[in-house]
Amino acid sequence: MASKSVIDPSRLELSVEEMRRFGYRVVDLLADHFANMRDGPVGAKSDPIAIRPLFSGPPSEKPCDPHELLSRLERDVFPNNLHVDHPRFFAFVPGPNNFMSTMADTLASGFNVFNGTWFGGSAAAAVELEVIDWFCRFCGLPEKTGGLFVSGGSVANMTALLAARNARLENRIERATVYYSDQTHSSIERALRVIGFAPEQLRTLPCDEQFRLSVTSLSAAIVADREAGWRPFCVVANAGTTNTGAVDPMSELADLCAKEKLWLHVDGAFGAAAVLADRGKESLRGLERADSISLDPHKWLFQSFECGCVLVRDATLLKSAFQIMPDYLRDVHRESAEVNFCDYGIQLTRSFRALKVWLSLHTFGLKAFRDAITRGFELAEFAEQQLRDRNGWEILSPAQMATVCFRFGKNDALQTNLMEKMLRHGYALLTSTKLRGVVALRFCTINPRTTEQDVIETIECLDRFARQM
Ligand SMILES: Cc1ncc(COP(=O)(O)O)c(C=O)c1O
Repeated sequence: MASKSVIDPSRLELSVEEMRRFGYRVVDLLADHFANMRDGPVGAKSDPIAIRPLFSGPPSEKPCDPHELLSRLERDVFPNNLHVDHPRFFAFVPGPNNFMSTMADTLASGFNVFNGTWFGGSAAAAVELEVIDWFCRFCGLPEKTGGLFVSGGSVANMTALLAARNARLENRIERATVYYSDQTHSSIERALRVIGFAPEQLRTLPCDEQFRLSVTSLSAAIVADREAGWRPFCVVANAGTTNTGAVDPMSELADLCAKEKLWLHVDGAFGAAAVLADRGKESLRGLERADSISLDPHKWLFQSFECGCVLVRDATLLKSAFQIMPDYLRDVHRESAEVNFCDYGIQLTRSFRALKVWLSLHTFGLKAFRDAITRGFELAEFAEQQLRDRNGWEILSPAQMATVCFRFGKNDALQTNLMEKMLRHGYALLTSTKLRGVVALRFCTINPRTTEQDVIETIECLDRFARQM
């Protein structure tokens, strides 16, 4: 049990010396994690039967020694997750965060900055406004664009689609229809469900050969729907699908949306941050014409979770969708120049997520971020070439936007078994998906700390396992 001099339970306080001691241990743990993670496994997925009992039981009535608690976390919690920031974590969408982002989170949480209103967090709001401006400029969006930080791509998509619903349908959603390809992330369908759309209002269109939304079939679907009395109102384009990194033809989609008077939302949760680098800018042509964009700095902009962002071309449309002015907030709504982020999204109490982007972009400089993004493109191309150079491996979707999909042989179960074997082995991790009905393995190479040697050794490991099977 912790001594009384170290912990003052009546005030929920630690002594100053103890705060420092504990805090330094936490920082040491994090610094070691960042410095040494590549030497360890990519983490682990625990068996519920084994891991749940480690944390069962109510909290003790009496204080516990925080150092013992930290040791328990060190032993039981941190190793028993997947390390999505590990240089050989190629699964799903990795989370290659950076140390400065982590420290910014600590500061934002330590000062418990309230970033819901200007009254509560004026400097935080000023920083967030600036970072949002950076993103608007990166994406090529005009001056009156605005937006805010949210927990991630899912909430960004929902926030944008609600703004679209409010602006284009005045919230009368009967027979309104939304269009997107079958490669679109499930968060779009979930967001539409949450904001009241029924399944028969959602149009999931088959993708083309390159896994992109086909403008011709979209155009035909819109015409057919109008003739049948539906009310087309929104198209969702992908700026990098989760499956293959495919980018929908945004310029053509923007032309069609302009002609048909439809809202164009771009789900750039995975890929939009790539616009910072020349390679990304080239791939993402047309992004600047979106009515709204979701962008996840906690993916390809190397921030720690939860850091999503939504941009809306006309920020007043976000405000008219979300602003409510209750009596108990009457003191916060006075000066029009004072931006209250609670007026632009779902959260009132919200943390200072913009700080991590601000601190890490300033610390490392923009060029470092551009180079880190470019490296993601190059590593996927490198992985593709390595696979092509070996017998038995087939490329199902060539490298694009730091993603390449492939398989060994023709057997679906083999790909799943390979993934499971990699997970048990722990050296590196890839996950699978389905492309045109067959199971594919997938490399997502957005971690700038990944080396060519990591890719080679991961492929060697896969190749060995595949041939053993
Ligand atoms: C294309 C795309 N959209 C949306 C999301 C959802 O983002 P989040 O998990 O941050 O909510 C993801 C997540 O991987 C994604 O890849």
